[in-house]
Amino acid sequence: MKNVKAIIFDAYGTLFDVNSAAEKCKDKIGDKWEEFANYWRTTQLEYSWLRSLMDKHKDFWQVTEDSLDKSMKVFNIDSLMRDELLNLYKILSTFPEVKEVLNNLKEKNYKLAILSNGTPTLLNELVKSNNLDSIFDDIFSIEEVGIYKPSSKVYDIPIKKYQIQKDEIVFLSANTWDVSGGGNYGYNAVWVNRNNNIFDNLDYKPQNQVKDLVELLDLI
Ligand code: LAC
Repeated sequence: MKNVKAIIFDAYGTLFDVNSAAEKCKDKIGDKWEEFANYWRTTQLEYSWLRSLMDKHKDFWQVTEDSLDKSMKVFNIDSLMRDELLNLYKILSTFPEVKEVLNNLKEKNYKLAILSNGTPTLLNELVKSNNLDSIFDDIFSIEEVGIYKPSSKVYDIPIKKYQIQKDEIVFLSANTWDVSGGGNYGYNAVWVNRNNNIFDNLDYKPQNQVKDLVELLDLI
């Protein structure tokens, strides 16, 4: 990849493991913890897309709470667990290789940023709780434009700030639809395919996919 000026990361599912909140409660939730975590995540994303289409924006924290409430009912999870799950969601763990790779990229002097559905407060807390505060030049939140990914208004945010060409941005996401969104917008989008999944049919196929962030170091 040539002319890379900025490396921009999706947050949830790419840097931070969205299943880690439910996983930390697996003794209480039982065997269904992973199915529950996936349902919560899917519902959260559906709510983000539906709210954008309905023009009824609520921030990502409210969407996360609303989707948790539905998921807890569907999976019959004791309502006493609500606060614990939400508190854990504020301090999700990173995937194992993330810190080392980010530190390595930082030494190479790339502009590093996050572009996420999360609110500025949530993203700052996540970064802080994982000791990543010194890594990022910018943490871009969709709250700046009031609509969720994959609206092109979201992918516009870093372009406006950095005044660079779309393909000078390497955008990494583990969410296939976010790779499609960023790629259709014009970013050099890289799919972080941690679980050997199948890609979408949404008019964009990433030229590059990696199984984790370590492989990114070979690409750039
Ligand atoms: C985000 C969602 C897509 O961080 O995971 O924007």
